Amino acid sequence: MSDTERTRHVEVLFDAERIAERNRELAQEIVAARPEKLVVIAVLKGSFVFAADLIRAMHGAGLAPEVEFITLSSYRKATVSSGQVTVLRDVETEVRGRDVLLIDDILESGRTLAFAKDLLAARGARRVLVCVLLEKPHKRAVQIHADFVGFDCPDYFVVGYGMDVAHAYRQLPFIGYIPED
Ligand code: IMP
Ligand code: MG
Repeated sequence: MSDTERTRHVEVLFDAERIAERNRELAQEIVAARPEKLVVIAVLKGSFVFAADLIRAMHGAGLAPEVEFITLSSYRKATVSSGQVTVLRDVETEVRGRDVLLIDDILESGRTLAFAKDLLAARGARRVLVCVLLEKPHKRAVQIHADFVGFDCPDYFVVGYGMDVAHAYRQLPFIGYIPED
């Protein structure tokens, strides 16, 4: 991808202010679920900006989670799911008997989060809660429910706020999409 392609105009869907406000609401919803011995697990890479903001909103709501990361891959460089999920880098903490909050950017086919949820449940987590920034409701291929959802996502390939297309646009402080020419 050339530098001009990396700086194409991106149409704003959700601006920074709206995201920040929604993060504060999500933190309150998470508190209401009364998590115990909470470990937050951010699914890399797409969720890193969202997770960074959400854990600080959670602090504001009185929570003090342990923070962990897992790197899963199903997409590689394509914009269509390959259907195969693999662990590229695992968490470093014990989840047995604890509440887990999985954080991801987008719930689409559901394969990524279904895989992660099953993995952590199999390791003995007390509860595995799922929080996603965006949900694409009409794209589900497997049965999975998100406990907390930031926004319903229109049927665009979105970028920004940690999300990429071919490794570009993660740095944008808002969520947007690239309009067709
Ligand atoms: P699925 O739910 O297993 O299909 O995978 C969802 C994952 O696909 C997300 O965590 C993203 O990494 C990626 N993804 C899906 N839709 C988009 C998009 O519109 N923009 C960027 N990444 C996306
Ligand atoms: Mg992802």
